[in-house]
Amino acid sequence: MPKLTTNYLGLDLKNPIIVASSGLTDSIAKIKELEANGAGAVVLKSLFEEEIIMEMEEKIHAMTNRPFIYPETFDYMDEEPHEDILRKYLQFIKDAKAAVSIPIIASINCVSAQKWTYFSREIEKAGADALEVNLFVLPTDMNRTGEENEQIYIDVLKTVKEQVAIPVALKISPYHSNLANTIKRLDDLKVDGIVMFNRFYTPDFDIHNLSVTSGHILSNADDYKNSLRWIGIMSERVNCSLAATTGMHTSESIIKSILAGADAVQIASILYKNGSEYIDILNKEIYSWMSEQGFKSIRDFKGKLSQTKSNDPAAFERVQFMKHFRNFVE
Ligand SMILES: Cc1cc2nc3c(=O)[nH]c(=O)nc-3n(C[C@H](O)[C@H](O)[C@H](O)COP(=O)(O)O)c2cc1C
Repeated sequence: MPKLTTNYLGLDLKNPIIVASSGLTDSIAKIKELEANGAGAVVLKSLFEEEIIMEMEEKIHAMTNRPFIYPETFDYMDEEPHEDILRKYLQFIKDAKAAVSIPIIASINCVSAQKWTYFSREIEKAGADALEVNLFVLPTDMNRTGEENEQIYIDVLKTVKEQVAIPVALKISPYHSNLANTIKRLDDLKVDGIVMFNRFYTPDFDIHNLSVTSGHILSNADDYKNSLRWIGIMSERVNCSLAATTGMHTSESIIKSILAGADAVQIASILYKNGSEYIDILNKEIYSWMSEQGFKSIRDFKGKLSQTKSNDPAAFERVQFMKHFRNFVE
């Protein structure tokens, strides 16, 4: 009988399906339902750095009656993490831990290694099994170099790792001047896991009203391939756990991600579309496929098609269609 258990960030998961940070994980009732339908773990809806800082500033303004906040004022806040948003989030972690037995991964969305980081200690104290840091700097500042932007990832990781002993994962984007180098540097700093890749809000245009609108919120079933490529390239080259996210809509794409070397996957869009019952279907399909293939555990096929182990390592780094597909006809 195949076993779907896996290890992600040092945590034992009963299967590799993690529900990604989203509105699907923002209440205890929803988390209980996700567990009942077989989720291996959940990442709580993120807390946003901007929200924390804004609330701290409002509180300090109210306390000091000054329009300008001296940076050292934040030192006081370090010792007093009792803001409403923070307090609610910590209570949410405690309640989630009490309500379910699957691992609870807290999540913070941030853009800097600023004063919010003391909060990671509170997250640990509240009982979270791990912390996922969702970090993205849109490189729009023409006066900053790629290296300066990438240093933010390093600084955040170092600062958070200094504060907590629970595992820390970084959820990253594919947009780096040298992605392999950034991932290696994070791995050297003992990041516990990397989530590849976050999906971002994108603006779109309405050409009838000549206005800016919102792009599609949910991913498409074909969107998993960039994660697949990069998990395949990196899985043999790092020690940390890897989770694939974006566009995992079927058991097939989940299996492919594990074949590339992922320890787990994180899904959101397909559960928005099909409901949390779909987790059970995905697990059953993975189980059937493993039975057919004669795989007894996830370890039996994890990384079997990574770049180094696959029959065509060059395919992972092939990016131009020109030569290879010269005679392509549909
Ligand atoms: C409605 C919605 C809300 C999300 N909120 C968050 C969030 O708060 N923090 C975060 O790290 N990712 C968030 N995400 C991104 C998801 O965690 C996930 O990484 C992304 O949607 C790609 O997976 P998918 O293709 O299965 O949807 C959100 C996604 C959706 C669709």
